[in-house]
Amino acid sequence: MSNDPLLQPYRLKHLTLKNRVMSTALEPPDSEEGLPLERYRLYHREKARGGIALTMTAGSAIVSADSPPAFGNLHAYRDEIVAPLKALADDVHEHGAAVMIQLTHLGRRTGWNKADWLPVLSASPIREPAHRAFPKEAEDWDIERIVADYAGAAQRMQAAGLDGIEFESYGHLMDSFWSPATSRRQDEWGGSLDNRLRFTWAVIDAVRAAVGPDFIVGIRMAADEDWDKGLSREEGVEIARRIAASGKFDFINLIRGHIDSDAALTGVIPIQGMRSAPHLDFAGEVRAATKFPVFHAARIPDVATARHAIAAGKLDMVGMTRAHIADPHIVAKVIAGQEDRIRPCVGATYCLDRIYEGGEALCIHNAATGREARMPHVIARADTVRRVVVVGAGPAGLEAARVAGERGHSVTMLEASDRAGGQVNVLAANPRRREMVGIIDWRLAELERLGVEIRYNVYAEADDVRALDPDYVIVATGGLPQAPEMVGEALTVSSWDIITGTTRPAGRVLVYDDGGAHAGMTAAEMAARTGTEVDLVTPERFFAPDMGGMNHVPYMRAFHETGTRITINTRLTAVRREGNELVVVLGSDYAPGWSEERRADQVVVEHGVRPLDELYFALKAESRNLGAVDYAALRGEGPLFPDRNADGRFVLYRIGDAVAPRNIHAGIYDALRMGIRW
Ligand SMILES: Cc1cc2nc3c(=O)[nH]c(=O)nc-3n(C[C@H](O)[C@H](O)[C@H](O)COP(=O)(O)O)c2cc1C
Ligand code: SF4
Repeated sequence: MSNDPLLQPYRLKHLTLKNRVMSTALEPPDSEEGLPLERYRLYHREKARGGIALTMTAGSAIVSADSPPAFGNLHAYRDEIVAPLKALADDVHEHGAAVMIQLTHLGRRTGWNKADWLPVLSASPIREPAHRAFPKEAEDWDIERIVADYAGAAQRMQAAGLDGIEFESYGHLMDSFWSPATSRRQDEWGGSLDNRLRFTWAVIDAVRAAVGPDFIVGIRMAADEDWDKGLSREEGVEIARRIAASGKFDFINLIRGHIDSDAALTGVIPIQGMRSAPHLDFAGEVRAATKFPVFHAARIPDVATARHAIAAGKLDMVGMTRAHIADPHIVAKVIAGQEDRIRPCVGATYCLDRIYEGGEALCIHNAATGREARMPHVIARADTVRRVVVVGAGPAGLEAARVAGERGHSVTMLEASDRAGGQVNVLAANPRRREMVGIIDWRLAELERLGVEIRYNVYAEADDVRALDPDYVIVATGGLPQAPEMVGEALTVSSWDIITGTTRPAGRVLVYDDGGAHAGMTAAEMAARTGTEVDLVTPERFFAPDMGGMNHVPYMRAFHETGTRITINTRLTAVRREGNELVVVLGSDYAPGWSEERRADQVVVEHGVRPLDELYFALKAESRNLGAVDYAALRGEGPLFPDRNADGRFVLYRIGDAVAPRNIHAGIYDALRMGIRW
């Protein structure tokens, strides 16, 4: 038996967890009408297959109908949930993992204008900035009803054969009674700590009466809100002590911080560029103070830190949650001695940002996660070996080469520059986004293992491709910055010029972001950090709408710290030179006659990229499919590439930004879904 601390079994009550690695609660991609149907089940099964000991299903399965879903949460209040959850539990158990579920009443952390349009409630009527609902104060009859709802939900989870449940108690209803930031009550549910805990005891007592003493029940709780007006460390640890001593709970899943705003949420779930494992020591202190099983997750993305957390006795179970979105087979790779093959979580937090934008939790660079029904995490070899040329070693091209290599094809990559990475190199020039290079480095290591040849400094022309006599040609040449429609474009520079250092920010810099994602924001941030005066202008209703709330936080922090001026709802129409200055003419989509002029020394524009598609069009006429992809087949079954040219010598397709400017996930998904089909 291995002596790796991470691989040691852990006994929780009657349950033996086969190792120390878990994934904590998250809303996976994605529940269907509040039920965990096939997609949901396959996602959890994949983690079980990958060797994880415990998967906590559901981000915040809701116990009451008056707690409408904030992001596709499961409906634990419906009896129909039992059958699909049972199927999920059976699948996970079959692969030797345990499965639990997080239950909650979201309290004020949701909106009222959905589902049954019932009022949102909380301990006191204090608004949560992130979801913006004004809650009503929970009345006695609300409390009675919700306590009973917890018990009913717990019973359903037990009936579904789950190994246990945990209550969510940070930023939701349960802890709204605990925290001075959210409870101003002076009745028997507020004031003294005894009163503030009354709701928690009412819930656990009702749940225990429903499920008995043997069912595993834990609590995911903030033991320190790290907030001047919130729950202090002293009181939080005291609550943890009481919970541990009560004999009613089986584990604490520890949180430090509060989540009422996006900025606060990044303290609990840090994104790339923020500290790793910031609360691990505190979790260890709570474990020591309570002598109780403590689980914890907060940016422990790598096996070395996870191993340290267990070896140093800070945790009983270590959560590697986003790490498992990026690679659900972490433990299997550790066991196989292939730690270096784990696809790294680069902390991009595309996954979490998407759910708050109403999308599924997808990984920026693992397009199979959440699509397990059709996209494999382990790629099978093809029946016939083909000669493949991939042009462009950005994320899409590298993924295409990786997939082709895994299929057993003979692959040659041609890359115009002297290094791989494409636009990832641009994004990663922002020091706090450096981890993005993990997307490239992991693929380069995989390609080396697969024997894929990469020829650098080859600006591929059609003849270079023809000379390799390929069966398949994949054009992943990406794009180059394009300017928005305007007068005086020649007087501007691109966001990439600033980010890559081709142009140094100087004097007063006006950044016009008509891209809506990272590049414009990064240019503004990097310029502002050099000490120049930055004026950020966007035609959007709020800046960078394609980015998401968690990623917004460090940009906004930088803009506040540097005094960057932000103007929304405003379009740049022209730039002209007057003496040593540039005059920027601004207009409005809303009031066509409105115009304003501002002066700057430098104007930076961001408007996405123009596809670099010359090679694709040069080769198109001699391809068998004339470049065509059958989208119906791509979504379903059948041959992807129609035979449109009997004289064609190869199949040709393009992926990523070489088709149209999108994002890293889109390029990687293109590469995977097309690459596994031939
Ligand atoms: C897409 C997504 C959804 C999440 N939803 C929940 C949730 O509903 N409840 C919860 O307690 N934590 C939720 N989390 C937080 C995770 O459980 C975990 O605490 C967080 O991702 C930090 O751990 P990590 O750094 O290992 O990813 C979510 C995380 C992600 C990425
Ligand atoms: S999107 Fe980013 S943070 Fe989320 S799992 Fe993937 S790599 Fe990790």
